[in-house]
Amino acid sequence: MPDQHNAPYPTRRAGRVRLPHLQEMKTRGEKWAMLTAYDMYSAAVFEEAGIPVLLVGDSAGNNVYGHDSTLAVTVEELIPLVRAVSRATQRALVIADLPFGSYQGSPEQCFHTAVRFMKEGGAHAIKLEGGLEMLAQVERLVASGIPVMVHIGFTPQAEHQLGGYRVQGKGDDAQRLVAVARAFEKAGAFALLIEMVPGDVAARITHAVSIPTVGIGAGSGCDGQVLVWQDMAGLRSGQLPRFVKQFADMRKVLGDAAQEFAAQVASGEFPGPEHTF
Ligand code: KIV
Repeated sequence: MPDQHNAPYPTRRAGRVRLPHLQEMKTRGEKWAMLTAYDMYSAAVFEEAGIPVLLVGDSAGNNVYGHDSTLAVTVEELIPLVRAVSRATQRALVIADLPFGSYQGSPEQCFHTAVRFMKEGGAHAIKLEGGLEMLAQVERLVASGIPVMVHIGFTPQAEHQLGGYRVQGKGDDAQRLVAVARAFEKAGAFALLIEMVPGDVAARITHAVSIPTVGIGAGSGCDGQVLVWQDMAGLRSGQLPRFVKQFADMRKVLGDAAQEFAAQVASGEFPGPEHTF
């Protein structure tokens, strides 16, 4: 565990990480990490490790509920996860992802869904995906005092329209993406999440806007980096996206522990007298 007093992250502060802290880190050129979290223990561990921002992502669809995409996850399924993460943390900024179909319909629909995530889930900010067609939604949230992060580039909720998991913003499309980023900054978004975009394009966006950018598969030029925690910790098996780095082998650690438990039950070693009333 890093030394609590020397760690640079604002989660070492006594109070909650707030939007100005992220903005100040951009000004100082300090990079920061964001992780997804979907439950109490992961949230508490990541906050303790100094992660300033936790995202309760719609990736819960794949990583909690076992779907093969994010499309199926519902507001009713996500709100309890947001509540668990916000209850378990005192300092991290908790961002709730709006699920597919819960905000695209209209700015009013977006507003009502976002309010549910903040009132019922205790989220501090909201994330939504999209391009310029989402400007009215972002403006509606900002006008209501709801901080909003906009997810641009590859937007998984539009995977069928985008023709699958493809890098966005290549070639001539780069200029369009920079314009999209600037438009969301102007609309009042507090940050941009940039997914699967060439590194030089994400760096261009990061320089073009004054708000923080967080990258995933977008190179090292963003202000922050985000990963799905099960990817980061090596819990997921099978083919991994190129942008994932595994920082531990949790699948092995958990598997070994479960095997040892089963072996000790079979041999009669567990429970011992010390575990028995
Ligand atoms: O839902 C999610 O996990 C995301 C990732 C891109 C971080 O949006």
